[in-house]
Amino acid sequence: MARHLITSALPYVNGVKHIGNLVGSMLPADVYARFLRQQGHEVLYICATDDHGTPAELGAAKEGVSVEDYCNTQHDIQADIYKRFELSFDHFGRTSRPQNHELTQHFAKKLMDNDYMEERTIRQFYSNTDKRFLPDRYIEGTCPYCKSEHARGDQCENCTKVLDPEQLINPRSAISGSTDVELRETRHLFLLQSKLQDKVAAWVDTNETWPALVKSIAKKWLTEGLHDRCITRDLVWGVPVPFDGYEGKVFYVWFDAPIGYISATKEWADAAPESRDWESWWHDAKDVTYTQFMAKDNVPFHTVTFPATIIGSGEPWKQVDFIKGFNWLTYYGGKFSTSRKVGIFTADALDLFPADYWRYVLMARAPEGDDSSFTWHEMQGLVNKDMCDVLGNLINRSMQFSVKKFGETVPQAGAWTALETAALAKTKALLEDFKTHMAQCEYRKSMSALRAIWVEGNQYITEAAPWTQIKTDPDRAAAILNFTMNYIRMIAIISFPVIPESSKMIASFLNVEIDAHAWLSDIEEEMTALEEGHPLKKPEILFRKIEDDIIATCEERFKAPVSKAA
Ligand code: 2FM
Ligand code: ZN
Repeated sequence: MARHLITSALPYVNGVKHIGNLVGSMLPADVYARFLRQQGHEVLYICATDDHGTPAELGAAKEGVSVEDYCNTQHDIQADIYKRFELSFDHFGRTSRPQNHELTQHFAKKLMDNDYMEERTIRQFYSNTDKRFLPDRYIEGTCPYCKSEHARGDQCENCTKVLDPEQLINPRSAISGSTDVELRETRHLFLLQSKLQDKVAAWVDTNETWPALVKSIAKKWLTEGLHDRCITRDLVWGVPVPFDGYEGKVFYVWFDAPIGYISATKEWADAAPESRDWESWWHDAKDVTYTQFMAKDNVPFHTVTFPATIIGSGEPWKQVDFIKGFNWLTYYGGKFSTSRKVGIFTADALDLFPADYWRYVLMARAPEGDDSSFTWHEMQGLVNKDMCDVLGNLINRSMQFSVKKFGETVPQAGAWTALETAALAKTKALLEDFKTHMAQCEYRKSMSALRAIWVEGNQYITEAAPWTQIKTDPDRAAAILNFTMNYIRMIAIISFPVIPESSKMIASFLNVEIDAHAWLSDIEEEMTALEEGHPLKKPEILFRKIEDDIIATCEERFKAPVSKAA
């Protein structure tokens, strides 16, 4: 038994996320956490909302509420959605909690003591109308590259170019729209990443198992050279800077957000201090394997900048061992856009279909090797073929037949024939594949091995044909169904990390419970787990097909470029 710490990138608190966010962070982390728990490991899966930053402040202003109230509401909305997606966080915290304030200030002091931080005077836009500085997204204007009039101080969403606020043409305040803005001098703290370059590079080199995508992003940043980074802002919402002369200033959101992984673990422990020890997971935790999940835009912050903070602190904090980075899930080849409301948002997704449909489809099409395009037709295909025609069909037809012919108990076992032995040999190999790919966080490969096991069960019963056997050899028909009930139980167990609700439902038909902390023993042994006479229930419909008219409605409602779907 090993100890596994798992974190998924902390979603910004403002706004319901789209399914692209889910597939690139929380969902694969959950599948992995569930899988590792089943393997008997001690798992701690931590996530939180990333509460600070200008989008939260702007969101609150737009709704006319205080930023605290806004964040409380938004956090709860997201927490509820993730619960409905069956995300099994051990704790879903918040970066605005006191634990994160304390720890962020602690890191800052250490970096200052170790001479990795220094004060510099920079020029920032100041609004004479709003009587305040306008950092990051508070300043808008015309993009110098594409001339979009809605570029922000940090980036132009239209052409995606990263900007310096001073580059904006006709700068204006995002609060009041006032163009009465000027550049004023202001003092800020810089993290001296250039001084930490060699240490970060050496640490990156020790991580030989990182996936190619992750390693190449880290290397690119290191090759370009680490720049010193301004980590404070003239804002009220955030973690206050604990140094004299910095009253009214807070840390930049990307400084405190990753510290949130640690502080959310502390929140978890603080809720039950007598039985939980957060430090054993983070401090000098050599026995812990730490895996992070994120989309590729977050990779530089986790491979280079957060490690620079940790290394610069000089303290033995747990560093990440494996980073699973994802490419983009696209919507018909185009970008999901929160601001333009293009794509599918997680709350709408759950109103349309059960969580397990999304969980399976998103994992089967995870953007691993490359970007992956979501289309409604593909979702329909995966649900109708894999879930309904293969898995659902296996369970419903075999269990219904069994209950009809042999009553509501498992029929009598019999000697295995070449059919059973062959099915088991294939299943054994597929199970090995499935386990290996799951352990390596290779989701597409895992899903195809899982599906192949579902297919194997279905093929077995088609070939064994108990409905024919029963006419001449009822004992053989019983034996086939006994084997099938056990095979279905095995499927319920192994599918649990991906489709937990459905697995539990299958288990309920078989009158067994899924143990979230147990995996299979020897496959032959598993095939005898349910003995003759064990009670069964008539199965209910497990999955329902997605009809064409539903797909047409979704395409229209979610602005799908239908022409590309065919
Ligand atoms: O990109 C994002 O959604 C960020 N909120 C991720 C933060 S990850 C971690 F560092 F907190
Ligand atoms: Zn632009």
